[in-house]
Amino acid sequence: MSRLSQLSRSIDGRVALVTGAASGMGRATAHLFADEGANVAVTDLEQGAVDAVVAEITEAGGSAAGWALDVADGARANAVIGEIVERFGGLDIVVNNAGISRFSPIDDDEYEDHWALSLEVLLTAQTRIIRAALPHLRASDSARIVNIASTEGWGATKFGSPYTAAKHGVIGLTKSLAVELGREGITVNCICPGPIHTGMTEAIDDGDKEVFARRRTAIGRYGIPEEVAHGTLNFCLPASQYMTGAVLPVDGGLLIKNA
Ligand code: NAI
Repeated sequence: MSRLSQLSRSIDGRVALVTGAASGMGRATAHLFADEGANVAVTDLEQGAVDAVVAEITEAGGSAAGWALDVADGARANAVIGEIVERFGGLDIVVNNAGISRFSPIDDDEYEDHWALSLEVLLTAQTRIIRAALPHLRASDSARIVNIASTEGWGATKFGSPYTAAKHGVIGLTKSLAVELGREGITVNCICPGPIHTGMTEAIDDGDKEVFARRRTAIGRYGIPEEVAHGTLNFCLPASQYMTGAVLPVDGGLLIKNA
């Protein structure tokens, strides 16, 4: 049957960099993108953890290579992106996913440390990765940037101000860069996950998770990392070329639920 539409929903052969890809949503994104035929640059703090995800992908028949990359290290980010381009012949997709969660009352003695680290890893690092990737994205005919924010980018939780401020910043960064890079065909979008079962939330008691999800989400449960990865993939398709500056909640309906 001949096709009636023109745009492609395939990322086969594209090169995708995922930060914080050793766990949770980053790992699920690396898995999904590899399943869809992309060459995946798996990066995270520890080489051993990165290698484990690369092995999972290659054993399943996918294409991946791994780099230890602390996103707070600008010089390392430049070097790793250079190596990714050398290894795979370009760079088409950047998923800024790496994250930490530090909650701290405003009058806590360690507040300033929590603030500095949160802003550094969650927000400043995204600009750093984008700046390092930009010359290569400019050479791609389907360049896509997806920044992972949070429902904390819309609302707020008590004692979460370093995290919440950083995630609000990710949304502003996304919108501003979407405007700045749109004419070049580089799209910049943002995902706001709700409560998801990952390394970040594993210390929360299962019963507390269930009560929270039932009360606060429309779907009534925590999400799984792959559900978020599919949202990210949608932004990365060649067909998504007219979607930019969008802020997509993948939150089980948390943000729209009043009662
Ligand atoms: P996770 O803890 O399972 O994965 C985060 C990964 O980031 C880890 O592998 C960690 O080693 C890595 N990482 C931390 N600091 C890093 C650094 N400086 N450089 C490179 N990698 C670093 O957590 P999850 O939940 O998968 O987090 C992914 C993103 O999703 C984060 O940006 C987080 O803020 C965001 N998020 C998570 C939610 C959840 O409910 N789990 C909700 C909303 C947003």
